[in-house]
Amino acid sequence: MTVSDPIVESVITTLSRSVTEIRQGLVGRRGSANAENPSGETQMEADIWADDLLADRLSSIDGISQYASEERDTVLDCGDGDGTSTGDGYAVAVDPLDGSSNLKSNNAMGTIVGIYDAHLPARGDELVAAAYVLYGPITTMVLATDETVSEYELTGGERRLVRRDVTLPEDPVVYGFGGRVPDWTDEFRSYAREIEQEYKLRYGGAMIGDINQVLTYGGVFGYPGLVSRPEGKLRLQFEGNPIGYIVERAGGRSSNGHQSLLTVAPNADDIHERTPVFVGNDALIDRLEAELADAR
Ligand code: AHG
Ligand code: MN
Ligand code: MN
Ligand code: MN
Repeated sequence: MTVSDPIVESVITTLSRSVTEIRQGLVGRRGSANAENPSGETQMEADIWADDLLADRLSSIDGISQYASEERDTVLDCGDGDGTSTGDGYAVAVDPLDGSSNLKSNNAMGTIVGIYDAHLPARGDELVAAAYVLYGPITTMVLATDETVSEYELTGGERRLVRRDVTLPEDPVVYGFGGRVPDWTDEFRSYAREIEQEYKLRYGGAMIGDINQVLTYGGVFGYPGLVSRPEGKLRLQFEGNPIGYIVERAGGRSSNGHQSLLTVAPNADDIHERTPVFVGNDALIDRLEAELADAR
């Protein structure tokens, strides 16, 4: 199923056709690159390699004016196919390998792409599409546009539609919360203690793997603000916004603890800004926001 917006279609087709190469390229690149990304995280060889591959492919798409990623300091101004960037067009924000620390233990990982109709950093409600690839037992992609949310199986560079109009199941089943429990705030801990009594723990250390559980079975995923780091760990532009967009398009909610992630005004001076991230069934997110508000 193609996407009606031709630029989005080009990005998604390019991503689908790059995935086999990315997956194969993980082999032999499981070590540290002895370098840090702008968030101060140690980069794996695969982080840098996947980022370079996607930067090269996505920045040369007509209509893409910017490429930014979690792994690079500066935003790449892309020629509009003819080497001159007119500045308008869509911007892509990429987490080339989400959960790359799972590479060492050979667990699920992902790639996240947000397509903004705005200059970066941008608000989540300026997204026109967002997708994630899940490198699981099989490789799948979930794509959200203003029209719908679809799931594809990726094989041989092609994408095969397996689910259209993906929506969060009514009844939640799973939850997954990041950060160390002693580092949770009291308010979040009391919410987590309630959730733990009601649902099954599914937390694999790669946001995309955990998100796909929530999207498949219903529930809630969170990486809260921590006592040691109130802004949390996940990045607004590369993780919070695209995943928030996908889950909201699938009928759920997103939040930073107080409001939809998509309404958060970005820090114009820090494209790598972090944010607490909560996504899932709307009743569970509403409850979190109410409990955090009561505690204030
Ligand atoms: P990335 O590998 O892109 O830096 O993302 C890792 C993130 C996210 O995937 C996951 O939810 C979280 O880090 C896991 O953090 P902890 O190791 O603190 O649980
Ligand atoms: Mn990282
Ligand atoms: Mn990530
Ligand atoms: Mn990453």
